[in-house]
Amino acid sequence: MRTQVAIIGGGPSGLLLSQLLHIRGIDSVVLERKTRDYVLGRIRAGVLERGLVSLMEEAGVADRMHREGLRHDGTLIAHGGDMFRVDFARTTGHSVMVYGQTEVTRDLYDAREAAGGQIVYNVEDVVIEGADTDTPFVSYTADGKSHRLACDFVAGCDGFHGVSRKTIPQDLRQEFEKVYPFGWLGILSETPPVNHELIYANSERGFALCSMRNANLSRYYIQCAMTDRVENWSDDAFWDELKRRLPQAAVAELQTGPSIEKSIAPLRSFVCEPMQWGRLFLCGDAAHIVPPTGAKGLNTAASDVHYLYNGLRQFYEEGDRSGIDRYSERALARVWKAERFSWWFSSLMHRYRDQSEFDLRMQRAELDFLASDAAAQAAMAINYVGLDY
Ligand code: APR
Ligand code: PHB
Repeated sequence: MRTQVAIIGGGPSGLLLSQLLHIRGIDSVVLERKTRDYVLGRIRAGVLERGLVSLMEEAGVADRMHREGLRHDGTLIAHGGDMFRVDFARTTGHSVMVYGQTEVTRDLYDAREAAGGQIVYNVEDVVIEGADTDTPFVSYTADGKSHRLACDFVAGCDGFHGVSRKTIPQDLRQEFEKVYPFGWLGILSETPPVNHELIYANSERGFALCSMRNANLSRYYIQCAMTDRVENWSDDAFWDELKRRLPQAAVAELQTGPSIEKSIAPLRSFVCEPMQWGRLFLCGDAAHIVPPTGAKGLNTAASDVHYLYNGLRQFYEEGDRSGIDRYSERALARVWKAERFSWWFSSLMHRYRDQSEFDLRMQRAELDFLASDAAAQAAMAINYVGLDY
């Protein structure tokens, strides 16, 4: 089998890239280790930057998002019993779209399938060969048989645990990592959101977040110990702890109910440099991870897709290699800014085990500054709605 772009991984990065290339008449094959249902079972953040909204439009998959997604013009930040609002629309002229990553992925699968796009599920033993030559290929097993997919380029969209990043020789790659000493315990419940905007709360008992998927589906998180287990948290215990971390005004509006999903996620910052090796390009979680505070994971994956898609488009349409040659440099310049924002927002909002009284005063002073200073709010808003590509 032969294609122009072999895409490893059918998560949002791989599917969005495949769909954008398809719109430009560039052929790709997506190789996914799991099934569509498995991929759609993963629950992830649901805040889309304007750049991703535009890419969804360009990919022709934005109709349902525009119908069902919720436009948010600002967010609430709670600390020490107070709550203030950062207005994105007034400070930046932009807003964000609240629409679950699961729905983004579902729309992309539907579009790929409707267009007859090739997605091979349940692939095993994926090996990327000859990435540093002009004739790369991907070997894999599917249905018990060995296959070989020849291609011009390989897009490594296979997430943090994929094979693509490890294909770049170790002596050519540098990895930067920070693991945070806590996790997020999250639940999904069929209850109306506590507020029409998100609430990020820094409380003395730890961080809490009130988010949503739609008018009757809410997503809540509380900071927990890394050693905590989901089984140790009944729904009642979760709601009680959440209430202790929110200001009274929010608690008064909170509607609780049975959880329909409950999970614990670790928090990590990670970047791999470079993001390309010969004809192999890394996209999304394969190259970088952010802690979820600020919801930059999917959005940063989307900015990679933007640079790679435009580089490939230039190559095929104009014979211009500059976009693909500079892919890593361009993608990383933006990745590091998203890493900084996610790290900053995480550091501002969580309680750390070894935090001294001085550290706590610094956090409080920074929150007071953000609460009262228009320039500080503008800096946050610019990052939250998404930096330019
Ligand atoms: N071969 C084929 N597919 C693989 C392999 C492999 N060896 N390893 C992993 N995969 C698949 C996974 O099953 C998964 O469906 O690659 C896909 C990667 O998807 P994601 O992990 O969702 O990564 P990405 O598409 O970059 O999306 C980034 O999603 O993971 C979240 O927080 C992240 O929001 C961010 C966004
Ligand atoms: C979510 O809705 O899951 C979510 C929203 C905002 C975040 C993180 C997660 O910053």
